[in-house]
Amino acid sequence: MLKGIAPSILAADFARLGEQVDAVLAAGARVIHVDVMDGHFVPPLTMGDLVVKAIADQVHEANAQIDVHLMVERPEQHVKAFAKAGADSITVHVEATPHLHYALQAIKAEGCLTGVALNPGTPVEAISAVEADMVLCMTVNPGWGGQAFLEPSIAKLGRIRELVGETKPIEVDGGIGAETAARCAAAGATVFVAGTAVFGAQNPQEAVKSISAAVGR
Ligand code: DX5
Ligand code: ZN
Repeated sequence: MLKGIAPSILAADFARLGEQVDAVLAAGARVIHVDVMDGHFVPPLTMGDLVVKAIADQVHEANAQIDVHLMVERPEQHVKAFAKAGADSITVHVEATPHLHYALQAIKAEGCLTGVALNPGTPVEAISAVEADMVLCMTVNPGWGGQAFLEPSIAKLGRIRELVGETKPIEVDGGIGAETAARCAAAGATVFVAGTAVFGAQNPQEAVKSISAAVGR
């Protein structure tokens, strides 16, 4: 089960990726979030399974997990490659495929935890027909780091918590720093993705510690 802060390497310095991942692991992060964008589901292109493979050993040696967030159309076509590269959890968007159930089955068949993601404009009921190990509530529109947290997310988290019950992990992603993370935690979130607030900080290790403290972990 994933929990706590999940630094997003989207905001890391790619010339020093290994070093930056080691720094946040040393500060206590046990989840590393990898944002995969295809230029279709969202406009930018980011990274693929090769990047997961490049950091897999150091993350797993620290007993941490690689959390892959697929912002791609037809994500079911990419599940195998990311699982093979070392992903521990793979999250797909309900808006990205007509075959959501099949995509989640494919993730499970590869032995990974399943995640289902909701864009800010997608109602909570969109996940009611499927089973997943966790729910990712986008707290900005997907595609870019550094955006402002969308306030209606707080009420939406309450609705998600009501729908999925007490124990399922709920991940928030976008505009998360110590202040927004604390409010999301109070509303039911248990996994906190942070890109800019961690890797854009003067001291990423201090940022990991202060966000973790803000959510009581
Ligand atoms: C946005 C990505 C996020 C992104 C968050 O589409 O899914 O994971 O890295 O970045 P910040 O924390 O800067 O909002
Ligand atoms: Zn993400």
